[in-house]
Amino acid sequence: MSRDYKVGLLGATGAVGREVLNCLEDRGFPYSEIRALASERSAGRKLSFPGGELTVAAVTPKSFQGLDLAIFSAGAAASREYAPIAARGGCPVVDNSSFWRQDDRVPLVVPEVNAQALRQHRGIIANPNCSTIQMLAALKPIYDAVGIRRIVVSTYQAVSGTGQKAVEELAEQTRQLYNLQEVTREVYPHRIAFNCLPQVDVFTDNGYTKEEMKMVNETRKIFGDPLIKVSATCVRVPVFHGHSEAVWIETGRRLEPGAARELLRRAPGLMVVDEPEAGRYPMPIDAVGRDEVFVGRVRADLSHENGLVMWIVADNLRKGAAANAVEIAELLIRDPELLKTSWEW
Ligand code: A2P
Repeated sequence: MSRDYKVGLLGATGAVGREVLNCLEDRGFPYSEIRALASERSAGRKLSFPGGELTVAAVTPKSFQGLDLAIFSAGAAASREYAPIAARGGCPVVDNSSFWRQDDRVPLVVPEVNAQALRQHRGIIANPNCSTIQMLAALKPIYDAVGIRRIVVSTYQAVSGTGQKAVEELAEQTRQLYNLQEVTREVYPHRIAFNCLPQVDVFTDNGYTKEEMKMVNETRKIFGDPLIKVSATCVRVPVFHGHSEAVWIETGRRLEPGAARELLRRAPGLMVVDEPEAGRYPMPIDAVGRDEVFVGRVRADLSHENGLVMWIVADNLRKGAAANAVEIAELLIRDPELLKTSWEW
């Protein structure tokens, strides 16, 4: 028997939160109520989305009472504070922040890759980093067919991944430059308009950034493969929406590019766009608003006989965040065992 669900959305006013609303509506998620939550700053604010209008409430520990599940996209501090409260009260949380991702009690899930990990959930489920989600969704069919020993990736990441303020900063700096005005900046350490920043998130002790280390550690956890070697360079580029990635992989045994393309074509959630002679390859402008991951430029690595190279693009706010979270929510409601009772935290 089907029923409708009461869904909480913490961070409803943010860049990802707004996209979660679009996804719930576009994907026909069976909801009877959406409780839009944010900070006190936004209390009373009206949000319109394709399903109607919502009034935002300030989150409190009682906000999750009576909800069937919640999606969080309000940053690490809010997730740390409220996810255990929601889970204890019987409202499982799909969390977009990085706070719980490496916690052993918390599954880190890309539905096409490791949906089975949901079986062990204890009320908090983590949505991976946007760059990791699209990379692993694309690599999974190859990983299953021939194994992957090593991944080297360079990302070209859109500003919307940083949040709504960063989108405004790129727009404003572009306007300022065209008007020969002094460029102001608040969000990024350097100008982002007409520039590339080889820094996404803060630097760690080993010279890599946190974003780069997320790609290493999340790949290992999601594939359940602590030995897979990953090295990333993450770059912020002046694109509003859509992350792109150049990815080199070393496979367990040799795989011809044509065979790899065939595997990718058959995989759910992937779109192969690979006709270079016709000028067709994945681009962020074509991925915006789409839930699929786009793969192209599949070719042999000239520097390694078991190497393949490809170009992977997705809408970072959709498959990289909101759509992946809503897909996890869809799996939760499909199996009553996954939604029951409350959890200890
Ligand atoms: P608010 O709009 O009230 O500040 P973005 O990723 O685009 O920066 O959005 C962040 C989202 O997280 C916003 O909806 C923001 O709400 C919300 N948020 C940030 N910090 C908190 C907090 N401590 N409690 C509740 N919501 C928060």
